[in-house]
Amino acid sequence: MTYDDLDLASLRRRRGEKWATYPDDVLPAWVADMDFPLWPPLRELLAERVAISDLGYPREAALQEVREAFAARAGRRFAWPVEPRRVEVLTDVVQGLYLGLLAFSAPGEAAIVQTPIYPPFLHAVPECGRRLLINQLRWDGAAYAIDLDGLRAAIDGGTRLLLFCNPQNPTGRAFSRAELEALADVVLEHDLIVLSDEIHADLVYPARTHTPFAGLSPEIAARTVTLTSASKAFNIAGLRCAVAVFGSDALQARFNALPPHVRGGLNALGLAATVLVWRDGQPWLDATLAYLAANRDFAARFVTDHMPAIRHTAPEATYLAWLDCRQLGLDPDPYNFFLEQARVALSDGAAFGSGGEGFVRLNFATSRTILTEVLGRMHIALMD
Ligand SMILES: Cc1ncc(COP(=O)(O)O)c(C=O)c1O
Repeated sequence: MTYDDLDLASLRRRRGEKWATYPDDVLPAWVADMDFPLWPPLRELLAERVAISDLGYPREAALQEVREAFAARAGRRFAWPVEPRRVEVLTDVVQGLYLGLLAFSAPGEAAIVQTPIYPPFLHAVPECGRRLLINQLRWDGAAYAIDLDGLRAAIDGGTRLLLFCNPQNPTGRAFSRAELEALADVVLEHDLIVLSDEIHADLVYPARTHTPFAGLSPEIAARTVTLTSASKAFNIAGLRCAVAVFGSDALQARFNALPPHVRGGLNALGLAATVLVWRDGQPWLDATLAYLAANRDFAARFVTDHMPAIRHTAPEATYLAWLDCRQLGLDPDPYNFFLEQARVALSDGAAFGSGGEGFVRLNFATSRTILTEVLGRMHIALMD
């Protein structure tokens, strides 16, 4: 698969936030959407639904198809046995974080988060009236690791939940089974419930494999809610469809005790698209991942060769490069510097919580040509 020929003019016609937030002279490399065209069968499915004006309320059977498609794929792809009845269909993954916080903790109780992390994790906890506890991941300039001692020290008597992100956004870590097992020991010691956001699980590069946290053991499954969707890997975030997977009936019953309609209704196109890509989309995803891997390596080499003061390790997963710009001392900060001087929109590391200041996140899910232009503009801005 080659995505070398993406047309800038048609990308600029897109109305989603990636392309429509900044002025036309800015190249957007921020929010986690890909610039690639949809998998053709998916485009045909959506076009057919629109052609026959089929945008009425979805049937309950459409939700059941999502549950079954997810369960079948979890077994096939991750050797993770999931029963369809243990899958709840949600609007989005972040909704699952909020619902999990409300269902599994009381006001004033705490949830712990490891930073830097996808910003909604940091907002969800205080917005739900829970205490946010922070444990920073360890970064030695070459690799990120979970700080288990720090985690144990930060958990207090009122801590009910660990909000976990694996593969990790923004660091690109795909944690190994041994790392996850060590984390699971802490979870069991402190009787925590885990909300495990695995939305990037399909975007793990071949040197690593994704290990579902809930797949570690029946004991861990019983206290884990896995949140995921097809939206990152198949580039359909705007269709709004996700799943929450429960490792026990008890956990699911507590979650379902919230009034059902706080989840909102579901998007008919999102349900249909999710079923199609989970059933048949793997060959497209494999080819797309190969292109992304080459972009990842290209970006990492470019940074090493041309911007050596930026510390960067190629991600094991995700199409996001996490760049430590602290040695550059950019004014006022790397995000604004590259926006103003390079006309490139990155994600501001400071939004990812402690340990993110002085970093930016670069989305490389675009054509090699556009990626080269993004990196080239950054390089020139640093030389000025
Ligand atoms: C780790 C992570 N979780 C959740 C989301 C958003 O998912 P949703 O749109 O389903 O809430 C993203 C989007 O980039 C993400 O990176």
